[in-house]
Amino acid sequence: MPAYITLFQVIITYNDVMAPANPFVYGEVVTSGAFADRDAERARLGRDLAAGQKVFLISPRRYGKSSLVRGVLRGLARQKILTVEVTVASSSSYIGFLESYARALIAADTPAGRLRRWAGELLQAVRPELRFDSDSMGTSRFAVAFPSVRTARDTARLANEVFALPGRIAAARKQRMAIALDEFQAITAFNGGSVEHALRAAVQDQRAVGYVFAGSEPSLMERMLGPRRPFYKAGPVMRLEKIDKATFAEWIEARFSKGGMRPEPGLGEAIVDLAANVPYDVQRLAHETWDDVKAGGRKAAGLDDLHLTLTRLLGEQHTVFEESWQRLTLAQRAVLRALVLENGTELLSADVRTRHRLPVASSVQSALAALVRQDIVMKEGGRYVASDSLYREWVARQTY
Ligand SMILES: Nc1ncnc2c1ncn2[C@@H]1O[C@H](COP(=O)(O)OP(=O)(O)OP(=O)(O)O)[C@@H](O)[C@H]1O
Ligand SMILES: [Mg+2]
Repeated sequence: MPAYITLFQVIITYNDVMAPANPFVYGEVVTSGAFADRDAERARLGRDLAAGQKVFLISPRRYGKSSLVRGVLRGLARQKILTVEVTVASSSSYIGFLESYARALIAADTPAGRLRRWAGELLQAVRPELRFDSDSMGTSRFAVAFPSVRTARDTARLANEVFALPGRIAAARKQRMAIALDEFQAITAFNGGSVEHALRAAVQDQRAVGYVFAGSEPSLMERMLGPRRPFYKAGPVMRLEKIDKATFAEWIEARFSKGGMRPEPGLGEAIVDLAANVPYDVQRLAHETWDDVKAGGRKAAGLDDLHLTLTRLLGEQHTVFEESWQRLTLAQRAVLRALVLENGTELLSADVRTRHRLPVASSVQSALAALVRQDIVMKEGGRYVASDSLYREWVARQTY
């Protein structure tokens, strides 16, 4: 091989290893270094799960529930607790959910060779069908299906079997378990009350199994925990708040430095503010700013860079935001614009309604409800805020 190719390869390898990767991550579950703070929440959730509690974890979207849960489960796995994670909202039907849940439980429990026997013994009453496939990467996977389940009664019986599985596995292995059911609010779509009843009845007997039910539609989750619903008082409720502003800002600046870029004083705080301190939005702004500065070949990032990046992002999202805007009714547009300009308060007052030419209070209220339903706006304390901080900036700059 000619010498120059070798040298070329050496340089590529050197760059791959030495060029610091972007230290900010968004749009996926983050753990360890990319995860900021939340020490108290981690400790509490870990303790409760290890003690077999049934915990409800509630927050608006993109606050970091899945990331918190993943980190805590990893910690528990190191303590030899058997962990299982299932996203309820990924299933398109109740039986589909039971299949994916059963699969996750069996996979957590069993080395592949013992799989068939285990599944047969643990789920004998419902005759599961196990399929082994390998994916395009060659890793083998298996799937669980329940072809004999046809009627609603069959489904109810299957649910009872599957929901009882964790207790049986924990007993057979003499091991504690921790189970996370993420996007748990989706369960209400399956079969309403009966799923909640069956699951509640099963989990309350399972002393050795901790559960975390994480949900991102606070109003739906709170209703599920109300009196006369099966999960009423079933366990502690954790409402995940935003990360402390100053702590988050400091963390961002430290990550910039760690990634080999000097942050101008105040950059962390400016990012947190502009992102309304929503963890996803914070990491997005930080990630994109870091990328832009890096692409410019510079080693320091400041407020001007942040604003240039913001302008770029707004430009890239323009079409999407415009489409969203055009789908709104005139009343909804007016209310959204007023909400952005007025910081989300006093929207029903005569003064604000006159200033922003809003309709009567009852129409403002129904417009707000429609915006919340579409996840464009969310309620935060007593205020209404735009869910996406980029959309908020776009509305403030591009609409009249
Ligand atoms: N503790 C944290 N520190 C830093 N960034 C975080 C933290 N938690 C969440 N994030 C950021 O927020 C993003 C969303 O986090 P995650 O998916 O865990 O939230 P979620 O509440 O489960 O959201 P959803 O309701 O959409 O499922 C992550 O990709 C990451 O960028
Ligand atoms: Mg999530």
